[in-house]
Amino acid sequence: MDKIIIHGPSYLKGEVSISGAKNAALPILVSSLLSSGTYEISNVPHLKDIETILSLLSHLGATVKRNKEEVKISSDAISCFEAPYEQVKTMRASILVLGPLLARFKKAKVSLPGGCAIGERPINLHLAALEKLGADIQLENGYVIAKTAGLKGARIYFDTPTVTGTENMMMAATLAQGVTVLENSAREPEITDLANALNQMGAFISGAGTDTITIEGVRELKATSYRVMQDRIETGTFLIAVAATGGEVEIKNCNSIHLEALIEKLTAAGVKISCQKDSILVKSDRIIQNLHVQTQPYPGFPTDLQAQLMVLLSQAQGASVITENIFENRFNHVAELRRMGANITIDGRTAVIEGFTPLSGAPVMATDLRASASLVIAGLIARGKTEISRVYHLDRGYEQLDQKLKTLGANIERVRGVS
Ligand code: EPU
Repeated sequence: MDKIIIHGPSYLKGEVSISGAKNAALPILVSSLLSSGTYEISNVPHLKDIETILSLLSHLGATVKRNKEEVKISSDAISCFEAPYEQVKTMRASILVLGPLLARFKKAKVSLPGGCAIGERPINLHLAALEKLGADIQLENGYVIAKTAGLKGARIYFDTPTVTGTENMMMAATLAQGVTVLENSAREPEITDLANALNQMGAFISGAGTDTITIEGVRELKATSYRVMQDRIETGTFLIAVAATGGEVEIKNCNSIHLEALIEKLTAAGVKISCQKDSILVKSDRIIQNLHVQTQPYPGFPTDLQAQLMVLLSQAQGASVITENIFENRFNHVAELRRMGANITIDGRTAVIEGFTPLSGAPVMATDLRASASLVIAGLIARGKTEISRVYHLDRGYEQLDQKLKTLGANIERVRGVS
């Protein structure tokens, strides 16, 4: 297993380019199951989670060829309709194959994902919505077994906005007979990106990006070429990293519109941010005001940036409060940050972060993807050596984060294959 070693403190300066979005690429790659023909998906980042979904698609019978950032997929010869436990336990987003398999092949067997480090993360809303479209769903031996004589459009109200639930239903409904209306849908930009890809395949989807999405079913879709959007969470992670270390960085190939909630908070904290069409210039003198932040579904403050922001707030002028409203157990980074000197107390879903706490380097352990990114930022601002183990969590969702930070002047090294 690789380790990352950082000698801090760092000051970040220069330019960095953002990669394609993991959470948009995953459903877009899966949408290739909806039709025969060869898809060409570009701007696909090199990440462990992308390898996992491509290996699942191959397992189902798809032909997958990757050349740098482009992936060609042909789903002409799908011969298996089962996403096995081994694959789903590695990555919960594997559940995204359920809707497309059911819509095109009328059957699917997908392992139940179970809980994960950040929360229980049930899939009840995916299953209830598929039943409304006319699927027969049975749970047997840890698997969802779904079949249908043919999906039919329906009105579906999500009790709570769910990102992959909305994506699963959008994909299933493209081939359903009649009109489907998804209410209280998630509004994340990745959903709009998937809707754009599906529309390019011949689907009729309107309202993506709002809480009501309408899908008029069509008889068939055709393969297409599509470029995945840039990763807003990677962009946000760099914004926070520069705010925390101090420095001046131009973040290229990104879309500031997708990060309004973060940019507003960072600006209120005293960070200088100027947004251009597809780049953001961030400057920080490390004088950070304290903040109160609540995570919310998009366009609110993203849960996927909560851990990173917490590190920044440990350096603020006064105490800050973060409330995590999306996942019930997303404070795994706190224990490790405390070992570096942070003074954070947790009460249920609320964390109180004392400001102006000097951090010192320590051996720490990554527990999940975004927690790992927070430890990297903590390592950048801490005095001395920070050694982060279990960085496979980081590699699930950040393309060459260590390399990119090194280019910006961080003293960061990856040590390969240590146990
Ligand atoms: N929920 C249910 N029932 C369901 C589905 C969701 O109760 O059937 C609850 C969840 O437990 C949670 C809330 O609804 O409390 C929202 O969960 P959501 O379904 O939106 O999460 P997700 O689709 O499983 C995606 C991202 C996550 C991101 C969340 C929230 C992908 C592949 N994953 O997960 O990304 O945190 O939305 O924005 O798109 C990450 O990249 O690090 C990551 C965890």
